[in-house]
Formats: sequence, C-alpha cells, structure tokens
Amino acid sequence: MPWAGVTLAIHAERRIFPYLQGVLAVLVDTGWTRFKTVVTGGSLPKSSHGGRRSGGLPTPRLPLHVVARIMVWMAFSLGAVRIPGVGVDLLRPEVDELRLAAWSDVVRAVGAIERGEYAPAPAQSCERLREQLSDPRTTRWAGYLDGTVIGAAEVRPAGEPKTAFTRIYVLPDMRGHGVGRSLLTEVVRDQRAAGTEILATTVLADTPGARYALHLGATVGDELVINVLDFATLDRAVLERSVTTDHDGYQLVHWSGRAPDLLVDSYALAKRAIADAPNNHLPPGAVVVWDRDLVRQSERERADRGVELWVTAAAVAGTSTVAAFPAVEVGRSSVDVGQEDTVVVGEHRRHGLATWVKAAMALRLADELPNVRRLSSTTAVANTGMRAVNARTGFRELTRRLLVTIEIAGLAERLHL
Ligand SMILES: CC(C)(COP(=O)(O)OP(=O)(O)OC[C@H]1O[C@@H](n2cnc3c(N)ncnc32)[C@H](O)[C@@H]1OP(=O)(O)O)[C@@H](O)C(=O)NCCC(=O)NCCS
Repeated sequence: MPWAGVTLAIHAERRIFPYLQGVLAVLVDTGWTRFKTVVTGGSLPKSSHGGRRSGGLPTPRLPLHVVARIMVWMAFSLGAVRIPGVGVDLLRPEVDELRLAAWSDVVRAVGAIERGEYAPAPAQSCERLREQLSDPRTTRWAGYLDGTVIGAAEVRPAGEPKTAFTRIYVLPDMRGHGVGRSLLTEVVRDQRAAGTEILATTVLADTPGARYALHLGATVGDELVINVLDFATLDRAVLERSVTTDHDGYQLVHWSGRAPDLLVDSYALAKRAIADAPNNHLPPGAVVVWDRDLVRQSERERADRGVELWVTAAAVAGTSTVAAFPAVEVGRSSVDVGQEDTVVVGEHRRHGLATWVKAAMALRLADELPNVRRLSSTTAVANTGMRAVNARTGFRELTRRLLVTIEIAGLAERLHL
C-alpha cells in the first residue's frame, strides 16, 4: 500500500471543506492509507477520512480556486492520483515482430468488430503490413496504455491534392483513456507539418467513431458501400459468360506494373474520367489531372514498395485508345486485394464494358494469384451504375461507411496544438 503524508497548508475556512473532502476522498480511494492535515483557524469536520490534526502554522488566505489547484497538484505530484500511462510511438519497419503483431492485432480486432464477420488472417495482416511499411507515403503509430499496444493509427495521402486519409483504432474496452486523442494529435501534427489541408476518414454511421468525428467538427461527405468478391465461392461460370460475350470493336489488354507505351497517354486521359463518379466531398477541380508523367511516377512509387497495379483495359480495337479499365493493387503476398478505380470513358458507357473488364480482372486474379482470398471495392451509395456492375460480377455488399472530412487548421486549434 502506498503511504504518504500531505500537508494542507491552507487556511481551513468552512467554505472550502467540500474541496478538502473531495481531495482527501480521492487520496483514500486511490490507496493512500495515512495523511496528515495541518489546519489553522478552524477544524476539519469529523467526517474527514483518516486525518491526524496538528495545528498552528500561520498560512496565508488563498482564493478557493488557488487552493483547489494546489491540492490537485499535490495529489498528482505526490503520486496519489495516477493517470494511466498513455504513450504513442512511431511504428517503423524495423520494429520487432511482437510490436508489429500487436499493432496489426488492434487493427484486425477493431476491423472485425466494425465489419461484422470479417477480419484479415493474422499472417496476411503482418506480412501485408511489412509490405506496406515500405511505402514512404504512409505513416503509422502505435498507441499504448501502461505499456500495452491498444491503439493504432495510420495516415497517407488521399487521391486528392492536399488531402490525407487517416484511420485511428482503439480497442473498444480500452477507450476513454485518451489514447485515441493522442494518436489523432500525432496525425494532425505530422500532416500539418507536411502541408496537408484536409484530413479524411471513413466511419460507421451511429458509432462512437462517427460521433467523435462530428464532435471534432468533421463534415459528412458521401455514404460509401464496401463490396467484396470472395474467391472461395467465385461463380466462374457467370464471369466466364461475361468475358466471352462479344464486345464488337473492343479488345481486352492486360498489364501489370507498367502501362504499355502505346496506351499510356490514353490511359492517363481515361483515369481523369473518375471525376464523373458522384461525390459530395471534393471541392471542384480537386481531381488529379493525370498525364503520362504522373502515371509513370505512380508506377515507380509502387515498384519501390514492392507492389504493382494490375490493369485490364478495354481498348478500341486497332487503336491506342483506352475506353475502360479496372485497376487492382497487388503485392507479393497479397491475399486480400483492393480495387482501385474502375472507369469507363464517357462515350463508351452503357455498352457493358465495365461488367466485361471487371469480370476479366476477377478471373485473372483467380488464375494468377492462387492465394487470393478476397477483392474489395468501395463505391458511393449514390453510384447506381457502379453498384449494378458490382452486383453483376458477383460482389456482395459487406458494409456501409460515411466518408468524413475535416480541415486540419481547425482541428489543430480544437486540439490546442
Ligand atoms: C460506373 C461506370 C463504370 C459504368 O460503366 P458502364 O460500362 O457504363 O457499365 P455497364 O455498361 O457494364 O453497365 C452494366 C449495368 O449497370 C447499370 N448501369 C450502368 N451505368 C448506369 C447508370 N449510369 N445508371 C443506372 N444504371 C447503370 C445498368 O443496369 C447496366 O446495364 P444496362 O446498360 O444493360 O441497363 C461508368 O459509368 C463510369 O465510368 N462512371 C464514372 C466513374 C465511376 O463512377 N467509377 C466508379 C468509381 S467507384
């Protein structure tokens, strides 16, 4: 049992007894067994806990709020009141396996709860994490409570200029100790220094995460639906039917990593058409103006972190014009892969091209990546066309989330940074 003595060098006027009693009660509750009060000009009520009086020190009259502060300070500085040890650490690729596993366990656990029945397998998660850690654009932190990793955060550039996407996870039964706030503080400091203006994340509607984001001043943009295609139950017959359906005037072209020189300009133009996807969260003109150089730059960045973009395009037959494509990021150890953009250029829409190229991509992944377990894609609920295409190619709706955004400057102010 901890032991310490407290000297309350104050003038014990009757009206400050509630403060005294409050602090003394805290000391007793937190395990203090003995303490000493020194009072002058008055006496502590009989109900005060365990005190032994000795009188006679001349002390100045102090205002109530100063007395309260002194007492709280004493309680903290003498260790009577202990704040659980909250810590935040940058997660570096070289950190030991245990810490990495603890970090990914938090992500998996929170993900499993939020996504219902699904969580990535631990081995996949750790392996994938190592892969992703080599991505210089993503920064990660582990959040500790008394030395145990109970929180995780990551931030990376979003698709739009001066915008970053973040995720913060804290184990549900460990919330309320300030770990989430500490992680958010790191994210905001880091991104403010990097010149980011908007922070985006997704939250499940009506959850503590959503309430916290709104409380901080975030605004809701689009409602998103997360779709998955499970390879264990893949209906190959349906996909093969889609792929073999005749699409007069178009041909399928597949590549991994580097877009063919002949197609790269047209591919860059096609990428710009993602701007036609319904969205409520982007300011006008915030979409990336893709060109050959940007395409090549993003290919190099992916290669540097050991992943590549697989693209299956519908090209106008006999030309170097890309009319449609889906793209999927694939890593060496990929088990769960994520769909990036699916785009059909304006004049080629409603000819079944999106269904065709997505079906072809699904079969390609199934055939060439024997370990692949799941392909996931995110679409705005308002994107009727894309959702119809997803349903036709065997995707099912896993969950819905709200995309929320907040300005870094306002958030930093709110966090007193
Ligand atoms: C969404 C998109 C990819 C669909 O491409 P597409 O080649 O026209 O789609 P398909 O021809 O394969 O459509 C298959 C079915 O989906 C439905 N569908 C497609 N587009 C639709 C739309 N705009 N409105 C309603 N239903 C639509 C139809 O049922 C269609 O079948 P039908 O033409 O026989 O009626 C295309 O409109 C696009 O590129 N949009 C802008 C970018 C975008 O939103 N990308 C997705 C981001 S997540």
